[in-house]
Amino acid sequence: KAATLDNTLGLPCRAERFIVATSHDEIRNALAMAANDTAPLNIVGGASNLILAPRLSGVTLQVACDDWWWEESDDQTILVYAQAGLVWHDLVEACVERGWWGIENLALIPGHVGAAPIQNIGAYGVELADVLDSVHVMYCDDGRDAVFSRDDCEFAYRDSIFKRALAGRVVVTQVVLRLSRSPSPRLGYGDLAKRVSVPPKVQEIFDAVCATRREKLPDPAVLGNAGSFFTNPVLEATHAERLLREYPAMPHFPQLDGSVKLAAGWLIERCGFKGMRWGAFGVHERQALVLVHFGGGDRQELLVLADHIRDTVHQVFEVMLEREPRLMG
Ligand code: EPU
Repeated sequence: KAATLDNTLGLPCRAERFIVATSHDEIRNALAMAANDTAPLNIVGGASNLILAPRLSGVTLQVACDDWWWEESDDQTILVYAQAGLVWHDLVEACVERGWWGIENLALIPGHVGAAPIQNIGAYGVELADVLDSVHVMYCDDGRDAVFSRDDCEFAYRDSIFKRALAGRVVVTQVVLRLSRSPSPRLGYGDLAKRVSVPPKVQEIFDAVCATRREKLPDPAVLGNAGSFFTNPVLEATHAERLLREYPAMPHFPQLDGSVKLAAGWLIERCGFKGMRWGAFGVHERQALVLVHFGGGDRQELLVLADHIRDTVHQVFEVMLEREPRLMG
């Protein structure tokens, strides 16, 4: 039936045929129903990385299966099976409580488990791809189940096969993670190392990541946002060197293949946008990569602002930013 679709950006959205599936069979039934519809199927998780249209026609499917369990694969390794509808942060918290290493740096990332492999969520030097074992999916056209190994997923920075060849063609039903009892602290990013003791406990890293995020990133329950609005651009070395001659203080992160990743937040801040507001939307005052919604705005206004930011950054730095959250509807 029709429903208002809550989303972290706080955009008004009405889904004409909203189905919350609480079992594998219900997912399959919803897909069969959508296959008979002329309007495209919309698959949503926690709606934290979506820019929704005011109206979604056709079937909008949310997977609500949220069980999880584990299997000891040897005395160090734990395979964690998590269904797509589980809140990602709740899974992180439960694993950290048990002393398992692997996803503590990914604390407080909004959204559901099922969305995590799609954009290969990442933060503080860790990506989902680092700990992922496999992804279970259901094909939209005929409801068949399939399992994708980590290699099958074609993971890259904020990217996977699920955003490309398989976009709109499968529903993620379950994710399998490979965690460990033996410590593997990853403290290379920012000032994480300063916030924990030596050697750190997994709980301390989790706490440090939560504290860092709360300092910089707006809580969507208080201020609408979809996290980083653009991905960090990756440039050819010659282009980055040219910019570095002009802006020696520019943050830059050389990649294994010789390219250089820049911080989109820094570029946006340098253009003078940080903390600015235009009507219902603005650029977050503590993290220029996050666009925020003060309320009462619509998607068109947001996209106009995003284009303005992208065009200005392009004029100043000759770098084209790409939008990170996905448009739906
Ligand atoms: N910076 C500025 N001004 C700003 C923001 C950032 O100068 O307004 C500089 C910082 O000083 C730092 C660099 O840019 O030198 C990187 O900033 P930060 O550590 O805040 O991370 P980010 O590159 O802006 C990425 C992810 C975040 C993730 C953080 C931490 C992307 C698109 N974003 O942001 O992910 O939490 O790193 O690992 O890769 C998300 O995807 O929604 C998200 C929040």
